Amino acid sequence: MAKVQTTLNIGDLELEKAGIKLDALKGEVAVVTGGASNIGLGYARSIAAAGGSVVIADLNAEGGAEAQRVINEENGRDCALFVKTNITQEADIKNLAKEAFAKFGKVDILINNAMNMRLNGKILESPISDLDQSYEISGRGVMLAIKEFVPAMIERKHGTVTYSATQFHYAPPMVGGSIYCAGKAAATSVVFSLANEVKDTGVNVFCLCPAGVMRFDASKMPPPPPPKEGDPPPFDFSLMAAMFKTPEQNGAAMIYCLQHASELHGSGLIHNDVFAAMGNPFDPPRPEGAPAFPVGEAPRRLTDQELTMVFCYVGAGL
Ligand SMILES: NC(=O)c1ccc[n+]([C@@H]2O[C@H](COP(=O)([O-])OP(=O)(O)OC[C@H]3O[C@@H](n4cnc5c(N)ncnc54)[C@H](O)[C@@H]3O)[C@@H](O)[C@H]2O)c1
Repeated sequence: MAKVQTTLNIGDLELEKAGIKLDALKGEVAVVTGGASNIGLGYARSIAAAGGSVVIADLNAEGGAEAQRVINEENGRDCALFVKTNITQEADIKNLAKEAFAKFGKVDILINNAMNMRLNGKILESPISDLDQSYEISGRGVMLAIKEFVPAMIERKHGTVTYSATQFHYAPPMVGGSIYCAGKAAATSVVFSLANEVKDTGVNVFCLCPAGVMRFDASKMPPPPPPKEGDPPPFDFSLMAAMFKTPEQNGAAMIYCLQHASELHGSGLIHNDVFAAMGNPFDPPRPEGAPAFPVGEAPRRLTDQELTMVFCYVGAGL
């Protein structure tokens, strides 16, 4: 794999470390929505490195064009296509399909991954337009893409549809932004309903929940607000790096899931479970006697504020 100079925030791919063969997706064509940054970019690069072709659908024209260039150069073949797409617009989705079929002749895999990560406020503090936008991207955008690509998959009795879900609404009390969770819940419901509709057609449907994927840089975190009396001690964000997985590691988890799509049909997995199934290839050995994360006798769950800070200030476009 060629090392390519780029302004994109990328690292080395991790497929071989996870025991995934570089022809695992040979001949397969995937559409990745939101493929111009972070998780989606990790998926797009991993798919191409595993021998597949990839169509990146994203609003971000600059990042998408650069992703196309990087992936083609990394793999030394014409295996990536960027199509500027707003997934909430039916005309854009139709254009995406037209371009994808013109270039690669088929689409085998649809990865619904786009989201505006800044739509993560609280219900009582957000304008209703935020909820509309959250549903528009997560509910409407996912359904439009499904309606465009799945019929041809059913016809060919071959295809996979997946969604980048969140564990926040699986595990109440909701700890992420409420507007964000509402949109994610809508899309997850659409995807699981589709799993029922396409049962036994040769199309497999599952959700993969990334759960803390970013190249985390503690120095980019804003200073904490002045503590109030009774507040817990401020959280040391430098500890966060140990909690996060990179987009490349998460990309390897997606390839593993795509290889096991028929077993996963109708289910949702948090990526740590995928890593466990792969034999935990990315867990650094813990030095002897080192405490489990976070440091302390009773590991504490991150507060809403800490989580919201991470997703507000660092989440998008890493
Ligand atoms: N980062 C995490 O740890 C995490 C955890 C759980 C779920 N997720 C989900 O994974 C997905 C990717 O997250 P990320 O951290 O890579 O986010 P990100 O903000 O880095 O990437 C999202 C991408 O979607 C694109 N996008 C936004 N609106 C769009 C639209 N209308 N049409 C087309 N493209 C659009 C953006 O331009 C961006 O490139 C999201 O759906 C998110 O909810 C992420």
